[in-house]
Amino acid sequence: MRSLSAHIGVLFAAASVAHGHLAAWHPSMYCAYGPTGQQDLNAQSIVNPLYQLNFDQWWFHHVDNCDQFPPPDGTFLELPAGGSFTVEIASNRAKTSLSYNGSDTSEWPDGNNYPEDYVHLRINQVHTQNQSQAAGTAFAISYQSDITKVTPDNLAVFSVRYHTPWKRLTTYDIPAAMPACPPDGCICAWGWIPNGCGQPNMYHQGFKCNVTGATSTTPIAPPQPPVWCEDDPSKCVQGSKQMLYWNQAQGDNIEVSGSDLSGEPKSPAYNAKCGFSDGAFEGFSS
Ligand SMILES: *[C@@H]1O[C@H](CO)[C@@H](O)[C@H](O)[C@H]1NC(C)=O
Ligand SMILES: *[C@@H]1O[C@H](CO)[C@@H](O)[C@H](O)[C@H]1NC(C)=O
Ligand SMILES: *[C@@H]1O[C@H](CO)[C@@H](O)[C@H](O)[C@H]1NC(C)=O
Repeated sequence: MRSLSAHIGVLFAAASVAHGHLAAWHPSMYCAYGPTGQQDLNAQSIVNPLYQLNFDQWWFHHVDNCDQFPPPDGTFLELPAGGSFTVEIASNRAKTSLSYNGSDTSEWPDGNNYPEDYVHLRINQVHTQNQSQAAGTAFAISYQSDITKVTPDNLAVFSVRYHTPWKRLTTYDIPAAMPACPPDGCICAWGWIPNGCGQPNMYHQGFKCNVTGATSTTPIAPPQPPVWCEDDPSKCVQGSKQMLYWNQAQGDNIEVSGSDLSGEPKSPAYNAKCGFSDGAFEGFSS
């Protein structure tokens, strides 16, 4: 009994972590500073979800001016073509290596510790939690150096990680066919639509990024809006895809109604239900 209730306690604690508001942290991100640009080791405005906002408010988290606070000059998220990169998914800058020399970090996004068998417990005992907590996250790239020039039509998803957000350190694969960026680099974005976490909102944040070791010179195709295709994979958009924009007052690129095949309300996400494969997007060269 003791061990069962201990496990249940862990489940509730960890469920609240994964339901928590999260962002992808890296020195190259916008908004690692406070909302007024001051050094803030506890910065967290970027973790706020976006819901029913006008386009100019949610796009790159302008609602709290996050797009106004770029990383220090020369700091880029380096994207080695065909390789991978790692970011820290966390609830607060303090819980990442960007603050306090990483002394408040743990394996998990909130700096706390949970037993290793937690994932096992979650899958076996908390039936709905795997979908709600780990809907999938994505990185997209725009071959524009100026964040004000980035639009949904030039921001293309290049990497997806299924079953995230989960632990803090999260690694994404990079397509081999990524061409080089312009001289002043590219702009990247991270996105997540949680599933079944209450308010059906989304996350959208910016980074300065740069492709290294590029061999392809083929520009990426203009991305198309993803579609819900769980019931018929032949409907999935095969080529370059936009990020998912959902439940905003303006600028949505996907609408869903009814239930998914498991009987839960449809919630668009970076997974097979919207035609996203796990890993590097391999369709840029074709
Ligand atoms: C981080 O580490 C550096 C170098 O070891 C040290 O100078 C600095 O005081 C540390 N900062 C904090 C907040 O612990
Ligand atoms: C997630 O939960 C669903 C039911 O909600 C189950 O069918 C599926 O096997 C689970 N997947 C994983 C990876 O645990
Ligand atoms: C981006 O990477 C390329 C290839 O390594 C490099 O030549 C270029 O200077 C980098 N751009 C920036 C802005 O750092």
